[in-house]
Amino acid sequence: MLGKYFINGWLIVLSVLCFSSAPQASDLRLDPNKVKGVDACGECHKETVKAWKQTHHSKTFSEMPRSDEAREIADKMGIKRIKSESDCLTCHFTVATKKGKEKPISGISCESCHSAGSEWIDVHSDFGGKDIKAENEVPEHKVKRYKESDAAGMIRPNNLYSLAENCYSCHTVPNEKLVNVGGHTAGSKFELIRWTQGEVRHNLWYSDDNTEASKNRRRMFYIVGKMLDLEYALRGVAKATVKEKYALAMAKRAKRALAFLKKIDKSVNNGELTNIIGIASKVKVTLNNESALVSAADKISKQASVFAGKYDGSEFPGVDGALPSPDKYKGKVFGE
Ligand code: HEC
Ligand code: HEC
Ligand code: HEC
Ligand code: HEC
Repeated sequence: MLGKYFINGWLIVLSVLCFSSAPQASDLRLDPNKVKGVDACGECHKETVKAWKQTHHSKTFSEMPRSDEAREIADKMGIKRIKSESDCLTCHFTVATKKGKEKPISGISCESCHSAGSEWIDVHSDFGGKDIKAENEVPEHKVKRYKESDAAGMIRPNNLYSLAENCYSCHTVPNEKLVNVGGHTAGSKFELIRWTQGEVRHNLWYSDDNTEASKNRRRMFYIVGKMLDLEYALRGVAKATVKEKYALAMAKRAKRALAFLKKIDKSVNNGELTNIIGIASKVKVTLNNESALVSAADKISKQASVFAGKYDGSEFPGVDGALPSPDKYKGKVFGE
C-alpha cells in the first residue's frame, strides 16, 4: 500500500514537472508560500507603499500585459497568457499562494527586493513586546532582532550586496530565449545610483523627507554596482548557447563593467577590487565555457560581498568625480 502510494506520488510529481504549463516554483524568485504582499507591508509602511505605487515596478502589473510590445514578445515566445506563464512572472510579477493556488498579486514588490516576508515580518518590527517602542528597545534586543530577521531571510539595507544583487538578477535579463527569440531588450543600461535614487527611492521610515543616499553610501552603491554588473554579466554569458544578440550583449556588458572597475582601481586602492579584476581578467568570456565562468562569478560574488560589508564609503573619495548627478536619476523622486 505504502509503496503504491509513493509510486503514485512520484508519478504525480513527475507529471507536474514535465507536462504542466503552470509556472514552476524554480522559475520564481520568491517562494509563493512565503510572500505576504504589499498590503501587509503597508499596514506600517504607508508612505513607502505610496511611493512604490508610482514606480514602473508597481505599474508593470497592469500596464505591461496590455502593451503591444508585450504581446509581440509573448507571441514570439509562444505564450498565450502573460500572467500565467513563468517566463514573464520571473521578473515582472510577484507571485503568492492564494487559496492553494499560485497567483500573480502585484508587480515587482517590496518583497522582490527585501525577500518574502512571512518568516520575518513579525520579528523585524517587534521591539520586545507590544508596549515597547523603538526608543525604549534595549540594545541587546535590537542586536537579537536584527540577527533573527537576517536569519529568517530578510534583506535589510545594511546588506547592500544582497539588496543590490536583486536588481542585477532581473535587469541583466538572463534569459537567452526571451532575448533572441522573443526580442525582449537585452538588459537595462543599469547603474545603481541612477536607478535607486530616482523613482525607486523610498527613504521614508527613518526620516520623512526622502533624502538621497549620503555621499559615502553612493560611493558604495557605485562600486558595488559595477562589481555586481560584472558578476551577473559573466553568469549571463555562462548560460549562452549561440553567438546571437543575447550572448553578444552579455559579453559586452562584462567587458564594460571590467573596464569601469579598472578605471575605479586607478583612484581607489583596495584589495577586494584588485582581486575581482584579477579573477575577471583570467576567465575567457566565450561560449562553451560555463563552469569556468560560473566559478569566476562565484569568486567575484564573494569578494563583492566582503567589500560591501567591510567599508562605509568614507574610504573612497577617489570615485567622487564619477558619481552621477541628480539630473541623471531615473524617474521622478517621490515627494519632490
Ligand atoms: C507591524 C508593522 C510593520 C509591518 C507590517 C512591516 N514593517 Fe517593516 N518595519 C517596521 C518597523 C517598526 C521598522 C523599524 C525597525 C527598526 O527601527 O529597526 C521596520 C523596518 C523595516 C526595514 C528597514 C530595516 C533596517 O534594517 O533598517 C525594511 C527594509 C522593512 N521594514 C521592510 C518591510 C517589508 C518589506 C514589509 C512587508 C513584507 C514590512 N516591512 C512590514 C514595521 C513594520
Ligand atoms: C529576466 C527578467 C525578465 C523577464 C523574464 C522578462 N522581462 Fe520584460 N523586462 C525586464 C526588465 C529588467 C525590463 C526593463 C528594461 C529597461 O527599462 O531597461 C523589462 C521590460 C519589458 C517591457 C518594456 C516595458 C513595458 O512594460 O512596456 C516589456 C513590454 C516586457 N518587458 C515584456 C516582457 C514579457 C512579455 C515577458 C515574458 C515573455 C518578459 N518581459 C519577461 C525583465 C524581464
Ligand atoms: C527595487 C527594489 C526595492 C523595492 C521594490 C522596495 N525596496 Fe525598500 N529598499 C531598497 C533599497 C535598495 C533600500 C536601501 C536604500 C539605501 O540604503 O539608501 C531600501 C530601503 C528600505 C527601507 C529603509 C529606508 C528608510 O529609511 O525607510 C525600508 C523601511 C524599506 N526599504 C521598505 C520597503 C517597503 C515597505 C517596500 C514596498 C512598498 C519596499 N521597501 C520596496 C530596495 C527596494
Ligand atoms: C524582480 C525583478 C526586478 C528586480 C528585483 C528589480 N527590478 Fe527594476 N524593473 C524590473 C522590470 C521588469 C522593470 C520594467 C517594468 C515596466 O516598465 O514594465 C523595471 C523597471 C525599473 C525602473 C524604471 C525604468 C524605466 O524605464 O524608467 C527602475 C528605475 C528600476 N527598475 C530600478 C531597479 C532597482 C534600483 C532595483 C534594485 C534595488 C531593481 N530595479 C530591482 C524588474 C526588476
